[in-house]
Amino acid sequence: MSTGAVGQAHPRLEGPEKVSGTARYAVEYPLDDVTYGWVVPAAAVRGRITRVDPEPALAAPGVLAVLHHGNAPRVSPDVDSELYLLQEPLVHYRGQFVAVVVAASIEAAREGARLVRIDYDTEPHSTVLTADHPGLYRPDQVNAGYPTDTAEGDFDAAFDAAEVQVDSTYRTPAYHNNPMEPHATTAQWHDGRLLVHDSNQGSTPVRTALAALFGIPEESVRVVNEHVGGGFGSKGSPKAAVVLAAMAARHVGRPVRLALTRQQLFGPIGYRTPTIQRVRLGADADGRIAAVCHDAISQSSQITEFAEQTAVYTRSMYAGPHRRTTHRLARLDVPTPFWMRAPGECPGAYALESAMDELATACGVDPVELRIRNEPTVDPDQGHPFSSRNLVACLTEGARRFGWAERNPRPCARREGQWMIGTGVAGSSYPARVRAATATATALPGGDFLVRINAADIGTGARTALWQVAADALDAPPERVRILVGDTDLPPAGVAGGSMGTSSWSWAVVRACQGLRDRIAHHTGELPADGLTVEASTRDEVRAQRPLSRYGYGAQFAEVRVDADTGEVRVSRLLGVFAVGRIVNPTTARSQLIGGMTMGLSMALHEEGVLDERYGDWVNHDLATYHITACADVERIEAYWLPEEDPDLNPCGVKGIGEIGIVGTAAAIANAVRHATGVRVRDLPIRLDKLI
Ligand code: MOS
Repeated sequence: MSTGAVGQAHPRLEGPEKVSGTARYAVEYPLDDVTYGWVVPAAAVRGRITRVDPEPALAAPGVLAVLHHGNAPRVSPDVDSELYLLQEPLVHYRGQFVAVVVAASIEAAREGARLVRIDYDTEPHSTVLTADHPGLYRPDQVNAGYPTDTAEGDFDAAFDAAEVQVDSTYRTPAYHNNPMEPHATTAQWHDGRLLVHDSNQGSTPVRTALAALFGIPEESVRVVNEHVGGGFGSKGSPKAAVVLAAMAARHVGRPVRLALTRQQLFGPIGYRTPTIQRVRLGADADGRIAAVCHDAISQSSQITEFAEQTAVYTRSMYAGPHRRTTHRLARLDVPTPFWMRAPGECPGAYALESAMDELATACGVDPVELRIRNEPTVDPDQGHPFSSRNLVACLTEGARRFGWAERNPRPCARREGQWMIGTGVAGSSYPARVRAATATATALPGGDFLVRINAADIGTGARTALWQVAADALDAPPERVRILVGDTDLPPAGVAGGSMGTSSWSWAVVRACQGLRDRIAHHTGELPADGLTVEASTRDEVRAQRPLSRYGYGAQFAEVRVDADTGEVRVSRLLGVFAVGRIVNPTTARSQLIGGMTMGLSMALHEEGVLDERYGDWVNHDLATYHITACADVERIEAYWLPEEDPDLNPCGVKGIGEIGIVGTAAAIANAVRHATGVRVRDLPIRLDKLI
């Protein structure tokens, strides 16, 4: 019997604390004797620091210390070159954190940071990605461990021989993660032990990194991330703020709070790389693809290599015997790009799903039908069967709900007053991965249960979903179950990233709860005072998973209207239908899906990091000048999901839903703009000046 908690809509457990302001974020824990850190960004793009003069800052009231490469605590060079901070007088990009001021108040710290004098020897820099950049090279692999290039059959011959050819190059600009809560940390050292309250997507790896950097045992480090105000990937690995706060706290011998400013989030925390993507599709007159090639170019920094897996989406999405994908990278004098919601799939799907629309037009085939015609029977990349693949069902159900059948395929056919109206569609997909985790379940005397796992709830509702899963696995009323997440004192688990949080953590929770039920069944007499606890790790089970291709799928539909005089684009309607396994909590699932779709709308119309080569940095590095989609830009947005039972995933049968919502959305909108206006925009964002 199950209590049926999974599948029920439930508001976030911590919602009341959040809206009443009692939920504590990283720099909000009350603390005696606390001090404040403020980072100093480099004012040069590339070069060497020749002199740091801290005196004007130290003379200011309240300033306690200025940390820089000359005096900061030493950390290990072997952990992560991104975290080797304040160790060398080198500048690799404008805005790199080169000093930290610590003061008795946040105002004094900020003023102190303004007063630190730093001189630089500068060198010429290169910060703009171009398709013919002389430094382009082939990385050994791309993000998430995918092979850099793949090839099947003979693309060139098949493309040349194809009746219908599409050969288009698409460009996406840099996009900046902007979680509501910035990267923020409170760090305190007590007797050689480090306690940090940190805003991150997973505190287990943060603890590992801090222990290694400072050369102390992991048991001496505790990282708490009880509440996190978003991350979108930028907090998916240990980043500068937590390291700088820990250094500063050690240096001054007092607790330090350090939060980045909004401006400081533009660059040093990671961002989505700009991409240049050439997509070629060769098909017969009916739109059946014979040849597909996706060549992607992106950038990394001088500090480390991050290679966006832009073309990976194309490897498994549609059929076609002759296929090739490549990735090339240029190392520029820029901050290191990093994860941003669906790294790889998001920009890659914009290109491929746009090219599919171009192919539909070229063949005169409906774009929904074109995708159905190119449905593969097995994963064209790996040759494995799919554990479940319901893209066609998403397209069909989406078309029905959207009213696609009434569409006149001719561009510029619909007009209402000054508005030109068009509709577009795109496919969507995201891998359904898991990683190992550990959880404990405890039965307490009196009938309550406690479930512990170091999951991270970055605002998604993960805590609530795991609580529902635990109640069902324990066969207990949910109100008797308590769930604890967000603390390295809890059993270790992976980050909230790659849309594999709930799938991975729920697996461990289920196993711990099942183990506890077994234990209780064999227990006689009263429970001990501290209860009965069972711990479970999924390491062996995860390793033993069958080699299948596991993906969630979706279909994105958009209706846009474009002002015939000004070129203003409005998105009248976005509709997504997804097949993503079981939905644990419809309330929080819907929030993830429409959140991702909104971010896709933002990508289509608004977001654009504008880089000035003379200055060597983005000129729009705040939310006044870096445009994002706001509530008024979202007129009607709908997310639906299909019932999907997939026994080859994990005990809860869930696929991740955090990222798939952004995949394909920008293409659906660009395709709708093409339908409305006849103009194909191949470089995002779709600004009005590109339409008139
Ligand atoms: Mo997500 S970009 O994998 O945190």
